[in-house]
Amino acid sequence: MNKSLVQDQFGAHAAAYVTSTVHAKGASLARLVELVQPEKHWQALDVATGAGHTALAFAPYVARVIASDLTQPMLDEAAKLAVAKGIANLETALADAEALPFADARFDLVTCRIAPHHFPDIPTFVSEVERVLKPGGTFALADNIEPDAESTPGFVPIELRDAALIYNTFERMRDPSHSRCLGMTEWSELIEDAGLRIVHKERAPKEMEFEPWATRMGCSGPTLERLRSILLEASLALKAFLRPRSEGDVLFFTLDEAIIIARKPAA
Ligand SMILES: C[S@@+](CC[C@H](N)C(=O)[O-])C[C@H]1O[C@@H](n2cnc3c(N)ncnc32)[C@H](O)[C@@H]1O
Repeated sequence: MNKSLVQDQFGAHAAAYVTSTVHAKGASLARLVELVQPEKHWQALDVATGAGHTALAFAPYVARVIASDLTQPMLDEAAKLAVAKGIANLETALADAEALPFADARFDLVTCRIAPHHFPDIPTFVSEVERVLKPGGTFALADNIEPDAESTPGFVPIELRDAALIYNTFERMRDPSHSRCLGMTEWSELIEDAGLRIVHKERAPKEMEFEPWATRMGCSGPTLERLRSILLEASLALKAFLRPRSEGDVLFFTLDEAIIIARKPAA
């Protein structure tokens, strides 16, 4: 995946992420803070901060939070939002999640929410998280997942593989900078393989209204209709995962986030 595609895509739509309900008010924000139980002396890093919602949610509970992202216009929105909310312990940093420009063992907490599905190399990102965490430090992840046997039981592997393929195509059609969502089991294995120990994991469903979801990334006309038909004509496995439903003319579907809290073993 071309990273300049990420910068173009998010640069052009940065302002929409300031007010996007799922980003600004999504349930995983408060849930991450609740699960992590941050401490006042902590140094925190939020990777792929977007408009800064996760960094801002943690800021009141830690000493300092660095809100980092690959896209400067997103960081500009995050900085503006921090000023508007009277948050003074947040700084922004331009940073690629796969090559974090920070020293080893610098942070007590690294967060990353609704973003790794844009990273071309998620194992490298997770090993960077492990590197910049202090021994005993915490990694808090929330990201959309693809269907697998853990999230979508009752289907044979080929049905789940097809559903996952089509789901990722659906996401990429709406946002060309979408790389790939991992499944719940794949995330767990990858985090443990990087040397972090999972202390909690759960799945958090979030219902999305189809049109604002698609238009936030600039889709219109034929793309919107294509996405709508994928949703309505999905296989049984994909329907079990996306749960499309209509209320009058309004179409909704559900995405699942994996919420995983992991610790770097103490030295
Ligand atoms: C949906 S937004 C993030 C939402 C935000 N974390 C929140 O909680 O509201 C996705 C962000 O990932 C960033 N991004 C994508 N690829 C990246 C990479 N390789 N390194 C750092 N940031 C990246 C984009 O610039 C964009 O700002």
